[in-house]
Amino acid sequence: MCGIVGYVGPQRAQDVVIDGLRRLEYRGYDSAGVAVVHQGELAVAKRSGKLANLEKELADHPLPPAHTGIGHTRWATHGPPNDANAHPHTGGARRVALVHNGIIENFRELRARIEADDHAFLSETDTEIAAHLVELQVQSGVDLPVAMQRVCQQLDGAFTLVAVDAEDPDRVVAARRNSPLVVGLGDGENFLGSDVAAFIEHTREALELGQDQIVTITRDDVTVTDFWGRPVEAKRFHVDWDLSAAEKDGHDWFMRKEIFEQPRAVADSLIGRRTTAGLLALDEMRLADEEIRDLDKIIIIACGTSFYAGMVAKYAIEHWTRTPVEVELASEFRYRDPIVDQTTLVVAISQSGETADTLQAIRHAKSQRARVLAICNTNGSSIPRESDAVIYTHAGPEIGVASTKGFLTQLVACYLLALYVAQVKGTRYGDEIDEIMVQLEAMPDHIATVLEQAESVYELARAHVGTRSVLFLGRHAGYPVALEGALKLKELAYLHAEGFAAGELKHGPIALIEDGLPVLCVVPPRGRDQLHGKMISGIQEVRARGALTICLAEEGDRKIEPYADHLIRLPQVPVLLQPLVAIVPLQLFACELATALGHDVDQPRNLAKSVTVE
Ligand code: G6P
Repeated sequence: MCGIVGYVGPQRAQDVVIDGLRRLEYRGYDSAGVAVVHQGELAVAKRSGKLANLEKELADHPLPPAHTGIGHTRWATHGPPNDANAHPHTGGARRVALVHNGIIENFRELRARIEADDHAFLSETDTEIAAHLVELQVQSGVDLPVAMQRVCQQLDGAFTLVAVDAEDPDRVVAARRNSPLVVGLGDGENFLGSDVAAFIEHTREALELGQDQIVTITRDDVTVTDFWGRPVEAKRFHVDWDLSAAEKDGHDWFMRKEIFEQPRAVADSLIGRRTTAGLLALDEMRLADEEIRDLDKIIIIACGTSFYAGMVAKYAIEHWTRTPVEVELASEFRYRDPIVDQTTLVVAISQSGETADTLQAIRHAKSQRARVLAICNTNGSSIPRESDAVIYTHAGPEIGVASTKGFLTQLVACYLLALYVAQVKGTRYGDEIDEIMVQLEAMPDHIATVLEQAESVYELARAHVGTRSVLFLGRHAGYPVALEGALKLKELAYLHAEGFAAGELKHGPIALIEDGLPVLCVVPPRGRDQLHGKMISGIQEVRARGALTICLAEEGDRKIEPYADHLIRLPQVPVLLQPLVAIVPLQLFACELATALGHDVDQPRNLAKSVTVE
């Protein structure tokens, strides 16, 4: 939520900052802005709407050729997305420019305090106060890092702040509390970004920052302190993907590219998980076997698509480990006084590693002495940093706002966790675990087979351009798939879309069925006879009431044929692993329908990829 860039070095700051913002635009696209320091003065350009508006403005009126700059792409919280509310904001004397991600909760009190001293504010944002306060500090004679420390001590809430001072042209200072920020280490130049995509074009060496830290970058130096000026050692890491991973690679959308990357992403997430003796070994799993054996409950917390991955995980973990699992929305978790103690494992699933609700839920769980394991795709992010253990997914950067490969790799990590717990607790024999691992290792090929049908799914999607409402049905592990399929369609095509457990149909949802209403049905494999039979009855019932049924069913399933207006074939896989293949046509369907409707698939309206405010 909001993308932030900072740069000091020999290159033209405007270009480096704009390139960085382009790679961070998925974090928010309500407005964009850039500020550079040149010959003792600030030059600022900002425009509401997407980054393209700002780029157009800069093409006509470029900023001076400065070497120090900051930039911002906004997801609006305080004040509408207009030019005035766009970042960077400046202090009253236009000496300090500042960008912000997060929410400054006490901005009204702080603003009232200095408004009384004749300070005029130009925006409705919670950010502008920070620009004024930092400027007042530097005007009082302290340097920018100290000014930032003093201001941060007064702020409540979540914030990443990045500031420049016109009279201190060779450094950029940033502060971080509860919002993301990483440092890119260049040669004679240094970078700041909300994530590594901001500077991956220039360097793959990075520094991870902790909470309540201030970082100062110059061309040759990076200094990190806490909010009280005490030096802090930051952790260095190497980014193991390169620029090409953050490019569209010939696809019209990042999302489409990411859907087609799924066989590779799943394969990468499975690599290196077994010892030569065939045992599962999860590198970053820092929980002792003893702790795992003592577990009596697992609670999975997550938001959005990650929550649906957690729902699938519940079926797998309970089945393989006989350990009770609860799955809870992170935003609800800490407000209901959950029963959590040292024998509870809390599993936090987050692609970005920065979702504010999930982070707060982790903190609550830890305060109750639970052990916390993160499943995360982003090295250097807050959630793994604050967890006791982590399983990294290896999806590579996910840039499309709607999660696709992130979801599949989270499922893989959940299966691995379930099997690992089963191995340690001894709830499954080694050869059973082996057999499931072999099935998992076959999944990349199965996903590729599903992708081969993309054209026919696209055709079906385009035929539904006039549709206003779509239902999704599933049972067992197919139920979260139905929910995720519906979420994809809501996010991208802005259609009314709902997922239901097929068994619940008769308790209400069936009243929604009317002539021609498309219903996408995730049919379980035939191996689970009861499930399969019950699903077919549900499909018959909606069809009898006029629904148009689009069924996802495994190869060779003949029983479904009479009840399917359209049939999408899935490879034959076990029911617990079926989500890995069943979600793929639903992703393709949503992507193509949204494209046909003329929507921006990568940047759907009102959404942001990483939700760093509660
Ligand atoms: C946002 C994104 C979703 C994502 C959710 C959780 O809503 O648009 O795609 O599933 O956040 O994000 P996380 O990074 O925690 O998985």
